[in-house]
Amino acid sequence: AILSPKERPLAGLSAIVTSGPTHEPIDPVRYIANRSSGRQGHAIAAALRDAGAAVTLVSGPVTLPDPIGVTVRHVETAADMLAAVETSLPADIAVFVAAVADWRVAAESTRKIKKTAEGPPSLALAENPDILATIGHHADRPGLVVGFAAETDDLLANARRKLEKKGADAILANDVSPEGGVMGGAENTIRLVTAEGVEEWPTLAKDAAAERLVEWIATRLGRRAA
Ligand code: CTP
Ligand code: CA
Repeated sequence: AILSPKERPLAGLSAIVTSGPTHEPIDPVRYIANRSSGRQGHAIAAALRDAGAAVTLVSGPVTLPDPIGVTVRHVETAADMLAAVETSLPADIAVFVAAVADWRVAAESTRKIKKTAEGPPSLALAENPDILATIGHHADRPGLVVGFAAETDDLLANARRKLEKKGADAILANDVSPEGGVMGGAENTIRLVTAEGVEEWPTLAKDAAAERLVEWIATRLGRRAA
């Protein structure tokens, strides 16, 4: 069926989405990672596609299938994810959903680290690049940049700080307290934080939250009545 412009409000636009965790190697058999299933990011990539956008999904290691009709670039580390995002520019829209590991092991061992009588090794860490902040301040910055804030405390204050610091147009603030069940779960309770204020969304299944975000994006880009 041919969909009307109303049903494909983002036709002619391109979008980049990051999703999933990153894996930062310790040695050939071990890594540091974040908890993330990739469900929310993959759902957002699919919703942008359904709205008519040409979507590149930059995904860390997940067990989900690649969404159909989306260009998927598989990466492991934060450094690889940043490189894949940068080479996917220019884009009209970017949504950073990945749970990027904040730190990598400073000196990855090329040999398996063995247990010894000296006891456990200590791992020196180095900070990873901030992909959202890099793209939020990029010379080739997409016209609309959206990030997430996963917080257990001071949700809105931290979300506002991230909005400002990372150069985003919106931050979807998400309470990830262990009692909330967001990480790996099927639902999200989101507050959309912009310079204009805070929009409280009801608890939604991750694909419904993705559709709601795409409606917000289409409205913001003037592709849809508010
Ligand atoms: N993000 C990113 N690259 C990183 C870290 C985070 O692109 N190295 C993005 C995430 O995809 C998300 C947003 O930044 O869209 C916020 O991630 P979050 O982990 O909540 O924020 P951090 O800046 O890493 O701060 P902290 O973990 O200390 O709260
Ligand atoms: Ca982080």
